[in-house]
Amino acid sequence: MARPSETYVCQSCGAVYSKWMGRCEACGQWNTIELEQDNAPPGGLKTSGNAKGGKAITLDSLEGEAKAEARYATGNGEFDRAVGGGLVPGSALLVGGDPGVGKSTLLLQIAAGLARGGTRTAYISGEEATAQIRMRAKRLGLQKAPVGLAAGTSLRDIITTLKKEKPQAVIIDSIQTLWSDTLPAAPGTVTQVRTCAQELVRFAKNTNCTLILVGHVTKEGQLAGPRVVEHLVDAVLYFESEAGRSFRILRAVKNRFGAAHEIGVFDMTGAGLREVTNPSELFLSETDQDVSGSAVFAGIEGTRPVLCEVQALVSPSTLGAPRRAVVGWDSARLSQLLAVLDARCGLDFGRHDVFLNVAGGMKISEPAADMAAASALVSSLFDAPLPPKTVTFGEVGLSGAVRPVPQMEARAAEAQKLGFKSLLTPRGVESRKLEVMNFDNLAEAVVWLKKAA
Ligand code: TYD
Ligand code: MG
Repeated sequence: MARPSETYVCQSCGAVYSKWMGRCEACGQWNTIELEQDNAPPGGLKTSGNAKGGKAITLDSLEGEAKAEARYATGNGEFDRAVGGGLVPGSALLVGGDPGVGKSTLLLQIAAGLARGGTRTAYISGEEATAQIRMRAKRLGLQKAPVGLAAGTSLRDIITTLKKEKPQAVIIDSIQTLWSDTLPAAPGTVTQVRTCAQELVRFAKNTNCTLILVGHVTKEGQLAGPRVVEHLVDAVLYFESEAGRSFRILRAVKNRFGAAHEIGVFDMTGAGLREVTNPSELFLSETDQDVSGSAVFAGIEGTRPVLCEVQALVSPSTLGAPRRAVVGWDSARLSQLLAVLDARCGLDFGRHDVFLNVAGGMKISEPAADMAAASALVSSLFDAPLPPKTVTFGEVGLSGAVRPVPQMEARAAEAQKLGFKSLLTPRGVESRKLEVMNFDNLAEAVVWLKKAA
């Protein structure tokens, strides 16, 4: 056992193999398997060799004193919302995103916000020199914020620095640039990323410091060395943008201390990221609601209602197998909806190409969007716009039944707030200010839409 053994590790999912392969059997990705030296230092791991040396840990009751940890507010409402109401001491977060989306900009703003609020904050960059970060800080008007700034990539140096400086919050930009000198593998490999993340998370838990790791996303849209880091941290957030648009969405995909699927919305301006406190206005700002094939959906993102536009285009097809294309929604869900429209409402989409798009780069995963998608499809098929200022939501079952969805009052209230006049909804929704059309099944809704056209 003298020399470290060589293993082949999938850089996407972390699966380990004894020989190289073109395709990872675990995650199905191509060309992601690379040679890595094993973790074990030469001479083997220095463990005690038996279980006798351990120290007994105390077993506690579930009841105990529940001390509500004070969270560190960053002063940035959208960020605080996405992370579940401020940062929890001792927790670790991962913020992932494409290069250039604005991760460094966001986290510098967050660092400054924390520091100004009295939280001792360190910002450690492995990607940029301190001079570059200072320039950015100046441009953002943050140069006076008392952030501890450092450039470094050595894990050992960073941990030593943190032990000395004892910050309450630390931002590492990015985890892929760090390297631990105990490992022969190159920075950015799964082994290095995992080891560095593990060490830093351990440090954060031991010292009750909040750790924010920045991670890059690969071409395939995954965090490099993704699964391994995602399991180690308490919260995973993705920072996303839509090509050619200035707004950004910070989306919580995992959060031990708050609601997952919560989003924070920002606008990238010349002076950094600006909070967008009313995303519905942003997503609806460019809609043409009086054309056919457009329906406004009242969705729930995390804990807040967000309105967005669902667009459909149904056109006669010249192809044997007509096209179905979906952006921002689930394609299996579209197939199901088309089948229901066919079987329960007698509408034949079989000789039509069908395109469905959620405007503004939003991604919808809620079944509650069925009614909006169906309304958009029917409106496009009949080439008749929906009545103006109409909002819709509701799940459609295979039987064609329109089912109630969670938080219907909140959805209706958001529609009213934004000046909408009528609602197409499942039974159970009432409103004094809006005209409400309740439907038990989709066929009824189709009849109504036809009449309204
Ligand atoms: P950056 O935060 O460096 O992205 P990441 O860390 O995710 O790679 O942001 C880079 C982009 O943001 C760059 O294209 C310039 C743009 N930007 C602005 O539009 N306004 C600003 O105030 C700043 C600092 C950057
Ligand atoms: Mg960066």
